[in-house]
Amino acid sequence: MKDLLRTEHLSRGDVDKILTTAREFASNPLKANQILSGKSVAIYMTKPSTRTRLASETAVAHLGGHPIFLRSDDLQLGRGETIADTARIISGFSDAMIIRTFKQSDVDELGRFATIPVINGLTDEDHPTQLLADWTTILEHFGSDFAGRKFAYFGDGNNMANSWLIMGAIMGVHVVVATPQGRFAPASTAVKRAQEIAETTGAKIEILHDAKDAAKGASVLYTDVWMSMGDPESERSEKMKALSPFKVDDSLLSIGASDAVFMHCLPAHREEEVSTSVIDGERSLIWRQAFHRRTTIQAALFHLLHGELNGRE
Ligand code: CP
Ligand code: NVA
Repeated sequence: MKDLLRTEHLSRGDVDKILTTAREFASNPLKANQILSGKSVAIYMTKPSTRTRLASETAVAHLGGHPIFLRSDDLQLGRGETIADTARIISGFSDAMIIRTFKQSDVDELGRFATIPVINGLTDEDHPTQLLADWTTILEHFGSDFAGRKFAYFGDGNNMANSWLIMGAIMGVHVVVATPQGRFAPASTAVKRAQEIAETTGAKIEILHDAKDAAKGASVLYTDVWMSMGDPESERSEKMKALSPFKVDDSLLSIGASDAVFMHCLPAHREEEVSTSVIDGERSLIWRQAFHRRTTIQAALFHLLHGELNGRE
């Protein structure tokens, strides 16, 4: 596998490999600080970012390379140069590329025309590097004792909900997404893909519309913002109303397993999708998740640069 374009492209072996290396980069960030020596990695973003940008630039620096950060108005791409031509030019200067943008198809196209590894740093449909950080955090917290557990996501059926389902399917666990019915439910293509993967891994996929049912016995309660980057402001009030039963608060957390934890990819809006007491409480793993954004992007870059990821057929 040349690129990391979609969560669904990862095999379980690839995930295990990245997560193992991420843990090594957690304790020894400079253990491979020569592999990008004298080289650069282009980081191109058409949406804002705090964690992914900082994690990516730091990961590249720890691998001995130079990050080149580019926004859309820095490139001729914003003035009509094609994705294919841009991909070829960046491939001539850099050894890898990380991209955050709106359309998944743009990221797929960039991967197709680039001769260097391309990593998806978030699209409207998917956020693979976030899920790698989340699962590094989950394994660190629960150890190998995660197989029989239930992993529940609450709120908007957005890119994070899609990725949560797919990664849960790859990991072979009981994965739940709880959203309102209708337009804020996860994409049917993501649900179908998760179900297909689950058939090969033994995972259980559930799409529920009742937050309490979803929380029952769950080991992880996960949520994300209700208004994602690019969501139309015109739907804000309708969305807030529809999603309010899915807020993760102390009463929902108490329905979870006795050792349940709270997770969030961040940025968070306290008292919207999560109560302050939960996100800032003792069961919250948010800072460790954010820490692992760097270790996992560093590990993904490391294995892609070595051509060591096999992908899923
Ligand atoms: N979780 C995440 O991707 O954060 P940023 O949008 O700040 O990069
Ligand atoms: N769903 C959010 C995730 C941010 C990391 C968004 O796309 O804005």
